[in-house]
Amino acid sequence: MMMKKQNNWILSGARVIDPVNNIDEVRNVYIKDGIIVDEAAMQGVEAEELDLTGKVVAPGFIDVHVHLRQPGKVDAETVRTGTLAAAAGGFTTVVAMPNTSPVTDNAAQVQYIRELAERDGIVHVLPCGALSKGLAGEEMAPIGSLASAGVAALSDDGKCVQNHELMRHIVEYASNFDLPIMDHCENTALAAGGVIHEGYWSVLLGMKGQPSAAEELMISRNIMLARMTGCRIHMQHVSARESVALLRYARANGIPVTGEATPHHIALTDVEIKRFDTNYKMNPPLRSEDDRMAVIEGLQDGTLTIIATDHAPHTQTAKQVEFDYAPFGIIGLETAVPVTLTELVHKGYLTLPQLISKFTKGPAELLKRPIGSLSIGSAADVTVIDPEVEHTIDINSFYSKSRNTPFHGYQAKGWTAATFVDGVCVYSRLDEER
Ligand code: DOR
Ligand code: ZN
Repeated sequence: MMMKKQNNWILSGARVIDPVNNIDEVRNVYIKDGIIVDEAAMQGVEAEELDLTGKVVAPGFIDVHVHLRQPGKVDAETVRTGTLAAAAGGFTTVVAMPNTSPVTDNAAQVQYIRELAERDGIVHVLPCGALSKGLAGEEMAPIGSLASAGVAALSDDGKCVQNHELMRHIVEYASNFDLPIMDHCENTALAAGGVIHEGYWSVLLGMKGQPSAAEELMISRNIMLARMTGCRIHMQHVSARESVALLRYARANGIPVTGEATPHHIALTDVEIKRFDTNYKMNPPLRSEDDRMAVIEGLQDGTLTIIATDHAPHTQTAKQVEFDYAPFGIIGLETAVPVTLTELVHKGYLTLPQLISKFTKGPAELLKRPIGSLSIGSAADVTVIDPEVEHTIDINSFYSKSRNTPFHGYQAKGWTAATFVDGVCVYSRLDEER
C-alpha cells in the first residue's frame, strides 16, 4: 500500500461521477489542503498530478453498517484494522455499530470510540448508539446524552426491539435530535433458532430456518410507526421479496422510510448452504433466488437507496465449528466494490452512476451529513475505481483482522484503485495495475 501524506492533488483524466451534483463526465478534480477546490484556486499551488485516465473518480464511499468490534472483541477486528480494510475497500466514512462489549449505550462509550477513531482511524468513524440499554430491548437508551456525545445514528443491530410501544417512544424521542434510526428488522419469536433461510434448502438439509416473515413483520411494524409518528426509520440489510414490496409501497405513499441492501444478499442465495461452510452464515440469512432478484429490483427502482456491507468480523476459532454453533456474520468492506461492480454493473442491472449513488448519495441523505459529494469546499474524501480490472478475490490480501468471507476465490471485475481521506491518499494500488 502506498500512502502519501501530502494533500494537494490534481486528479486528471478520469470519468468523474458525483450523483449528488449530477456529474458524469471526464474532468479534473482539484484538491488543496484536503479540500475540493476549483481550478482557479490551484493557481501557484504545488500539487501532485495523478493521471487517472480509464479510472472513475467518485466521492468517498460511505458504509452505514460496519462492526469494528472494538472495544471487547479485538481478536476479530479493531478500529485500526477495520478502518484499514475500509480504506482498501474505498470507504472513507463508516458507521460503527454499537454491539461492542461494552455496548455503545452511554455517552462515555461514545466518547471512547471517538477517541479510538481519532487515534487509530484511517477513515472517518461515526459512532452509532444503541436504541435500548444493553441492546436488551427493555428500556430506552439515554438518547439525549448519546446525541450530545455525537452519535451519528441509533441502532440495536444484531437485535431488534420487539416491544412496539417502546419502539414508538424511541422513534418519537430520537426525532427531537434528528438522529436516524436504523433497525435490524427481525421478529425474534418467528426467527428463533433459525440458522438459515426457511425454504427449500432448510427442508432438504434438515436445518432450522428463519422465515422471511420474521423480517417482513418488523419492516411492516416500522412502516406503521413511521406513518403514525412522521419519524424516519431505516431498514438494515433488507433481504426478502415482500420486504422490498412493503418498502416500495411505503415510499410511494410518502412514509419516511429507507432501506439498504448488502453485497451478499445481492450476490448469493441459500443454495450455498449445502457446502456447510459457516462463511455463508449471517443474519438475515441468504435467501432464495427470487428474494435476491427482488433486492436487485429494489435497487433498480430506487426502493433501496443504500448498499451497506454489514461487515461483521468473527475469528476463525469462532467460525470453525458446526453450522448451528457458528456466529452470524461475514466481513464485507474489502469485497463490496468488486462484488457489486461485477453483480450489478457488469451484469447490466445498474449503471455505474446508479451504483455509486448507493454508496454516496443514499447514505449521505440518511445521515444528513455534508459528505458523499465532490462539491467545491467539501472535504476531499475521494474513491478511485478501476471498473474493468479482472482479478480473483484473495483473503490473503485483506487488511481486516478476520477472514470470514464467502468471496475468497470469487472472479471479480473492478476494484478500488485508490482512496483519499481529507486529501490524504490512505490507500492505493495504482502502481500494481496492468
Ligand atoms: O450477521 C450478522 N452479524 N448480523 C447481525 O445483525 C449482527 C452481526 C454481528 O454483529 O456479527
Ligand atoms: Zn443486523
